[in-house]
Amino acid sequence: MRSQTFLRNSLRHSAALRALLRAILFFVLLIVGSPSPSVAQQESCVTCHQALEGRLAAPVKGMDADVHAKRGLSCSSCHGGDPKRIGMDAMDPRAGYLGTPKPSEVPAFCGRCHSDPAYMRRYNPRIRTDQVAEYRTSVHGQRLVRGDTKVATCTSCHGVHPVRAVSDPRSPVYATNIPTTCGRCHADPAYMKGYGIPTDQLAKYKRSIHGEALLQRGNRLAPACNGCHGNHGAVPPGVESVANVCSVCHSATRDLFVKSPHKVAFDRMGLPECSTCHGNHEVARPTDEMIGTGPEAFCTRCHEPGSKGLAAAQAMRASLEALKSRLAEAETLVAKAANAGVEMSDARLTLQEAQTRLIQARNVIHSFNPKQVEAVTTEGLKFAEKGVAAGKAGLAEVQFRRRGLSIALVILVGTAILLFLKAREIERQKM
Ligand code: HEC
Ligand code: HEC
Ligand code: HEC
Ligand code: HEC
Ligand code: HEC
Ligand code: HEC
Ligand code: HEC
Ligand code: HEC
Ligand code: HEC
Repeated sequence: MRSQTFLRNSLRHSAALRALLRAILFFVLLIVGSPSPSVAQQESCVTCHQALEGRLAAPVKGMDADVHAKRGLSCSSCHGGDPKRIGMDAMDPRAGYLGTPKPSEVPAFCGRCHSDPAYMRRYNPRIRTDQVAEYRTSVHGQRLVRGDTKVATCTSCHGVHPVRAVSDPRSPVYATNIPTTCGRCHADPAYMKGYGIPTDQLAKYKRSIHGEALLQRGNRLAPACNGCHGNHGAVPPGVESVANVCSVCHSATRDLFVKSPHKVAFDRMGLPECSTCHGNHEVARPTDEMIGTGPEAFCTRCHEPGSKGLAAAQAMRASLEALKSRLAEAETLVAKAANAGVEMSDARLTLQEAQTRLIQARNVIHSFNPKQVEAVTTEGLKFAEKGVAAGKAGLAEVQFRRRGLSIALVILVGTAILLFLKAREIERQKM
């Protein structure tokens, strides 16, 4: 009974007890801390906070991997205060202590250094100092100013305690981690409720050719979310709108597109250049079925049967199919001849030329001009024909060798029989 009451009472007073214990701890730290010069040299912020618990101690552990700590910066570089003072008055606002920034204050908090070129260049002459300025142009930055604290600030994307170098594979903004970092909010329907925008970008991206290339094949040239949306600003450098961002990397395709009839038509209709056909988050691996008049063709989405557009679609597809089937035929013949032991490496080089033209033709369809496509496939066909001829010649050589072999065999067997008969005749004469 008595012990129970004691327990209940101590539970009731546990908050007060904890505070008391903490006060004793500070006192001990104060006494133990001051005489030792090695501890005094270390920031008091670190010494004291590492002896605390929970959210007050976690930052110290985190700093092991922090890019700032590696440059000799510490708690007080960001939070201010006087790290030479031992007690709680290290955190005196009169000593420049800033406390913990609210989300709306974070950009300016980081920007104190990151927007100061003179300061930053002391550490790294090439580092950019436009992150805050760019961030202010993004939807995140603009909504933050208007009081929306659910948007991403610097620490939502970079973390804090530690902030890792962007080249650190464990950084949340390391290329292969970015989709999950953005997806933490954008793929969470509960979090994004009320904004009225889709939350399927991450799922779609993972299925796309870009997602597959980056996340499964490790092709770092393929864009993560920031490859199209920019790191900090509304758009990456050199693009006026995310809608037309594809041209940053696919410039050869865009050069064809801008001279095509679609450029003027899409501009007039306010349609984006590439994603009108390919989509944005779920760009699929292109196939020849996407051009023409079949069920998977893009062209039938807008062009009526019998229109000039569909006639062109059919003509371009026909050019591709003609080259493909002749190339396939040549490949079969050349492979057969090579299997039979004929030297076919020259023919293989010729077939590679035809293959290159096929790839080129699939790009040139973006001129949406059947003549331009045909010019490329015709060149390809010439190589394919050469391949067919070489394959046939190879197989003829095989035939010739086989015929030669049979004749030689007949002669050999004939000679053997003659010799045998002759031997028998000699035997018989002896008897
Ligand atoms: C003697 C121990 C001690 C020293 C030295 C100390 N702190 Fe603290 N700090 C605390 C305690 C205890 C708290 C939590 C109580 C509070 O909020 O006031 C705290 C809270 C904080 C917070 C969180 C404030 C919040 O409200 O979320 C920050 C940031 C911080 N300290 C930074 C620093 C920095 C920077 C220094 C060095 C200049 C420093 N501290 C030195 C004990 C210390
Ligand atoms: C690069 C700047 C930077 C450095 C260096 C830094 N902090 Fe912080 N700290 C922040 C920011 C920003 C926040 C606000 C939290 C957020 O935005 O997620 C914060 C929050 C905190 C909090 C409140 C945590 C909470 O969960 O409420 C404490 C305590 C703290 N820091 C202590 C420290 C200590 C101790 C050190 C040194 C070991 C340190 N910080 C180093 C930027 C920094
Ligand atoms: C929406 C996510 C996001 C937000 C918000 C964000 N960053 Fe970044 N940050 C990135 C990405 C992504 C990179 C580039 C990583 C790379 O180069 O591969 C980056 C790179 C950086 C770099 C390295 C230099 C550079 O510019 O490439 C610094 C410094 C930086 N950010 C600071 C900040 C600061 C300060 C803020 C707040 C104003 C901030 N970031 C807000 C995602 C973000
Ligand atoms: C006291 C000044 C200062 C403050 C405040 C500060 N930083 Fe830094 N930051 C630096 C310095 C210096 C570097 C190292 C630059 C270098 O050597 O490339 C750095 C590096 C970085 C890097 C790594 C860049 C890279 O190229 O990998 C990131 C990311 C970063 N800081 C983000 C932040 C964020 C987010 C905040 C706010 C929470 C912040 N910083 C606050 C000074 C500061
Ligand atoms: C902390 C949560 C959070 C993180 C992390 C985050 N965002 Fe956002 N983002 C938001 C919120 C909230 C909005 C506001 C929604 C709106 O525009 O109505 C937003 C808006 C956007 C918009 C504008 C949408 C529109 O057209 O209205 C884009 C684009 C965007 N984010 C891209 C990104 C990318 C790319 C990343 C990662 C590099 C990222 N976000 C990381 C929360 C986040
Ligand atoms: C290949 C380029 C590309 C990649 C990669 C990409 N986006 Fe987008 N994103 C776009 C385009 C284009 C739009 C449409 C912009 C417009 O119409 O102005 C868009 C729109 C958005 C929007 C606005 C809402 C919507 O769905 O239309 C959000 C939010 C967004 N993207 C987030 C992301 C996130 C998160 C990732 C990574 C998982 C990502 N994006 C990857 C190109 C891309
Ligand atoms: C940051 C550069 C970058 C941006 C921006 C970009 N892409 Fe890509 N894209 C690539 C790379 C790299 C590949 C090759 C990936 C692989 O297969 O390894 C690729 C592949 C493709 C493919 C498949 C090509 C093939 O032959 O299989 C298509 C189609 C495509 N992108 C369309 C788009 C569209 C549409 C956009 C805009 C919404 C876009 N890309 C934006 C870099 C980019
Ligand atoms: C988003 C709708 C849309 C899609 C999808 C589309 N087109 Fe078009 N196309 C147009 C518009 C609009 C014009 C302008 C002339 C018109 O109004 O017919 C046009 C014009 C053309 C022209 C010039 C014809 C003329 O009348 O001068 C050709 C050729 C063409 N498209 C081929 C294609 C092919 C091939 C595809 C499939 C790969 C395709 N288009 C897909 C909308 C589209
Ligand atoms: C009118 C529809 C349409 C538009 C608009 C369009 N494409 Fe395509 N694209 C296609 C079709 C159809 C294919 C498939 C060709 C094949 O494989 O036979 C394709 C294939 C591709 C390929 C793979 C083949 C190659 O070119 O190497 C890339 C990359 C590509 N498109 C990028 C783009 C870019 C970038 C833009 C914008 C400048 C764009 N596309 C605009 C219909 C379109």
